Order: sequence, then C-alpha cells, then structure tokens
Amino acid sequence: MKDELLKLKKQFIEEIVSVRNLEELTLIKSKYLGKKSRISEIMSSMKKLPIEEKREVGALCNKLKNEITQKVKEKNEELISKSTFDFDLTMPINKNRGSLSPITIVGKEVCDVLQKLGFTIVSGPEIEDEYHNFDALNIPSTHPARDMQDTYWTNSGKLLRTHTSPCQVRAMEKYGAPLRIAAPGRCFRNEDIDACHENTFFQLEGMVIDKNVSISNLLYVMKGILSEIFGKVVEVRLRPGYFPFVEPGFELDVKCLICNGKGCPTCKDSGWLELCPCGMVHPKVLKMSNIDPNIYSGFAFGIGLTRLAMMKYHINDIRILNSCDLEELSQFDIM
Ligand code: DAH
Repeated sequence: MKDELLKLKKQFIEEIVSVRNLEELTLIKSKYLGKKSRISEIMSSMKKLPIEEKREVGALCNKLKNEITQKVKEKNEELISKSTFDFDLTMPINKNRGSLSPITIVGKEVCDVLQKLGFTIVSGPEIEDEYHNFDALNIPSTHPARDMQDTYWTNSGKLLRTHTSPCQVRAMEKYGAPLRIAAPGRCFRNEDIDACHENTFFQLEGMVIDKNVSISNLLYVMKGILSEIFGKVVEVRLRPGYFPFVEPGFELDVKCLICNGKGCPTCKDSGWLELCPCGMVHPKVLKMSNIDPNIYSGFAFGIGLTRLAMMKYHINDIRILNSCDLEELSQFDIM
C-alpha cells in the first residue's frame, strides 16, 4: 500500500502540471480526492490491517491528501490569475431575457397593497388535507359545494387544494384572533381546459378578524385595495353569493374599468365586472378554529389572481399563462 501511495503521488504530480483549464482541474480533483478515488479505496480497506501498519498507512494517506488538496488549490489560483475574459462591447444584447409572469406581477402588487394595510402574507401547502380544504370551512362531505370543486385526490387520501381558503383556517389555528392575513397561491381543479378554464390557477385569500368587524369594513377595505391595484378610484357593488364558510356571502363587482359602466364587450354590456367573492366569516368556521364568535367577527375574500392578470393585461386565453411558451409570454414583458 505504501508503494502504491508513492506511485499515486508521482502520477498526480505528472498529471497536474499538464492541466490547462478549470474543467480539467475538476476532473483531476475528483480522480484523486473523490469518493471513488483510489486513495479513498485504500483508506476504507485499511480496517483490515494490523494496528501498527494501519497507523502508518493512515498517516501517509492523510499526508498525500493534504498535499494534493494544496496543489489543486495552487493550480486553481494559477489558472484563475491567468484567465482573461474577452468582452465584445459591440455584441447585440440578448433580447431573450426572462420576465416575470403576469400572475406573479399582479400577485405582488396585491400583496404590496395589503401589507401597507397591515396584512401579513402567509402561505399554505398545495397538497392539503380534507379537513382544511373542506370540513373546517363548513363544507362537510355530504355538502353539494364539494361537487362544485372537482377535486384531485392523492392515493394517500390527501388532495390538491381547490382554493386558497384553507390558508384562512391554518392562519386562525396558528395565530388566533385578531388576525389580518393574505395568502396568494396555486390551486387545482379537475376542469376541462378551454380559453376560460384551467386546471391550475392562482387565487389570493384575505381574512380580517377582530372585534366589531362589519360589512362596511369589508366594503371599505375591498374598495381601497382595488383602487390601489387599478391605479384609480373604483366603484364596487355587492351581490348576494353563496359560500358555505361565509354568512352573508357576496360577489363583489367593480364598475367596468374599460367603459366606466356604460356597457362594452368586456363587461358583456352589464357595466360591471365580477371580481372577488367575499363575505362575513361564518360563526361555525370561527368556532371550529377556536375563535369565539361572540367576541370576534371577520370578513374574508378570495381574489382570482389569474382572472385579475387576464383583466389587467387583456389576456383572452387563460391557457397562455401556463403554457411555458416564451414567445407568447414575452408579449407581457412588462418588467
Ligand atoms: N374559496 C372560494 C372559491 O374558490 C372563493 C371565496 C369565496 C373565498 C368567498 C372567500 C370567500 O374567502 O369569503 O370558490
């Protein structure tokens, strides 16, 4: 073994002098110091040697490894100091630089506004359990609302979250009341895909819980948020909407930003755009997460970020957003 180590040393010295670049140096380094190197093999086979010899060979191996490490380091410095970089300042810039997805941009804008209003941004798992996605939101297994959200189930009985609302539950469990959180994230539903439907989309959940929270607080906050996002004062209206975890529940519409309420193809001549379902948190939902509904009340909302991005950037086919087609996506190179 001692002879072999000497031979290895000689061989290494011969090889390192002829190394010309960093790639070659990496190869040599792993050849002599890597897990599969001969030195490592020798070190692991040493166990069988008698104690005296083990000590001697062990010391030789360590010495050789240190010498090799030192030489590699010196060579590395030598190569770096010799290398020169050629810059051709006349080369055209690479136009294919990356850009943020419109959904990322819109999501960030909404979060920025909410953070200014004291909301904490939280997240939750994309693979959820039935309790947080459904039961704790007052959607028991017999509830027809489960059918509306065609769910992807995993073999282990978990599911891909169908909305960001389970983040409300997790936040209530973790922080209790009072609470002000927003949770952007990806959601999944087993939908047939067309220009308006995707099986993967983004929502942003918001929740406020405190003493004496009322519907007028909900309206005020929503109006503030949307005015900031759209960069002008928007008019909003509430229509009744049914969601098991809020009572009363609403659909919140904004006055069409394109025709200012006069009626156009975007708002289908109604003058209003449906934007954000919301409502006052159901007392049962508070109770299930250990918040006393006699002391606290709250509101929650779920903004469709995918929908918002489509509205803001006039994207008429939802499939573009998940397509990974850079040519399509580069149209929205807004950063
Ligand atoms: N999670 C609901 C959905 O995806 C949307 C929603 C409705 C969220 C009402 C809310 C709410 O927070 O209050 O269909």
